[in-house]
Amino acid sequence: MAVTLDYDVLIVGSGAAGLTLALRLASDLRIAVLSKAALTEANTYYAQGGVAAVLDATDSTASHVQDTLIAGAGLCHEDSVTRTVNGGPDAIRWLMAQGVAFTLEDNSDQPHLTREGGHSHRRIIHADDATGRAISTTLVAKVKACANVDLLENRVAVDIITSAKLGLHGPNRAVGAYVLNQESGEVELFRARFVALATGGASKAYQYTSNPDIATGDGIAMAWRAGCRVANMEFNQFHPTCLYHPKAKSFLITEAMRGEGAQLKRPDGSRFMQDFDRREELAPRDIVARAIDYEMKRLGIRCVYLDISHQPAEFITAHFPNIYRTLMDLGIDITKEAIPVVPAAHFTCGGVMVNEFSETDINHLYAIGETSFTGLHGANRMASNSLLECFVYAMAAAEDIQTKLASNPSDFPECPAWDDSQVRDPDEDVVILHNWDELRRFMWDYVGIVRTTKRLERALHRVLLLQQEIDEFYSNYKISSNLLELRNLVMVAELIIRCALARKESRGLHYTLDYPELLAEPADTILMP
Ligand code: FAD
Ligand code: SIN
Repeated sequence: MAVTLDYDVLIVGSGAAGLTLALRLASDLRIAVLSKAALTEANTYYAQGGVAAVLDATDSTASHVQDTLIAGAGLCHEDSVTRTVNGGPDAIRWLMAQGVAFTLEDNSDQPHLTREGGHSHRRIIHADDATGRAISTTLVAKVKACANVDLLENRVAVDIITSAKLGLHGPNRAVGAYVLNQESGEVELFRARFVALATGGASKAYQYTSNPDIATGDGIAMAWRAGCRVANMEFNQFHPTCLYHPKAKSFLITEAMRGEGAQLKRPDGSRFMQDFDRREELAPRDIVARAIDYEMKRLGIRCVYLDISHQPAEFITAHFPNIYRTLMDLGIDITKEAIPVVPAAHFTCGGVMVNEFSETDINHLYAIGETSFTGLHGANRMASNSLLECFVYAMAAAEDIQTKLASNPSDFPECPAWDDSQVRDPDEDVVILHNWDELRRFMWDYVGIVRTTKRLERALHRVLLLQQEIDEFYSNYKISSNLLELRNLVMVAELIIRCALARKESRGLHYTLDYPELLAEPADTILMP
């Protein structure tokens, strides 16, 4: 007997965006929060640097807005930037009220502020160098204490169900989702009055990434298949400094280390950022990542080095205890030696287009956090603006959902159960694994930090071939999380390449040798379903 579950609000994702939405909705609503792995296994948990917000008297919202616009290279939507920046102080107060233990100034109840690239002031609120862990564990504990919220792990949302797909009359709206329960192996039907996609980004499309395995762009692919517009997918942010070490997978070295004076060096110990930008190590990320890429290719080296060892050892261990311990376990003493680093895919600036309340083109379907495109980041996200966006837009979504529920609670329509009567157990899982590797490798080689039209066209050709194979697999075999993620990643890869081919200029994170100049009129790349 197929399982059907009914909720007022179905939230897909248990990162900063999903958990904030759950906590901001009224306690008399029936809410489900899905996570496809453990609840804390999300980008949010791994965030290091912090949350940007204007808390210091010498700082100003105008300055935070201006820095964000500069980093965004002419493509930020100023209304979104202003809304997000204005929401910063409230978001931080709310997080502190939830119990997030931010690092405080000595002998004070005021958060300590650190600095990151692109910010002209110290305005990064943090919990040592493991801010995401503090936020994630605190918010998960809070949501666990809510009797009205079911927190469901190991559930992979497969696709959104819309009224149009059901053939119902009236404006198209989301009415639920099919969800793979990885424990039972069954696909369950979740009906909901509102659905929020808080599924994070898609950096797993690349071979090297700072992101955990969950970052496969599921929400973007689901929204696209459901009929939403998607924008600016060509702006894939590569974090300049991920650890380069055979035993470390995806370990980030926070930009805050450069904020506290760390220097980038070639293997011979010489610095190079002064050759690329007057802001040197604190230039926006696109510039620093490209400079490292250039030096690595020019010198034929596998990594560059980040050196903070000139600072006193007590300063380093006090500011970066998590990184210090992790690297010490790998045999690198950062108080004495430089850290081998390389750029890696880190953040998806584009996503599902939403309005100021985070609602997509489909009624009652919301997209929040890294999955969404709010216009905040433009062509390059400024450090620590992402978590802030999660909080501000999740809060706006909560208010909007409450208002709509109060005025017009919709019914649960009849939805068909998932039909897998025509499919069989897969007998060729090796194909899925092979395709995963192939995709991530050509995305890295052909759609990476520096692009050309020829390489993008090659990548598109390969993506379309992979899609054919995956569609065939999807139609004939029982689904698994591996297959679902691959199907979504290939879809998102196509969106990235199509956006990249459409942009005939180099701007922010999108750099192509065929169009090295900026166009006079900045414009978003909007893909219509
Ligand atoms: P996530 O936190 O990624 O959560 C996504 C959730 O969706 C997960 O629970 C996942 O299981 C679930 N999910 C996905 N697909 C499905 C599906 N199909 N079915 C069910 N559930 C699904 N930003 C900053 O502002 N400051 C920082 O200091 C910072 N540091 C970072 C450091 C690292 C190493 C990384 C990787 C990112 C960092 N970022 C930082 C970026 C920031 O962490 C993320 O953009 C942000 O946490 C995204 O939050 P989110 O809630 O949108 O998604
Ligand atoms: C970092 O700590 O360097 C990551 C910050 C971010 O991605 O905003």
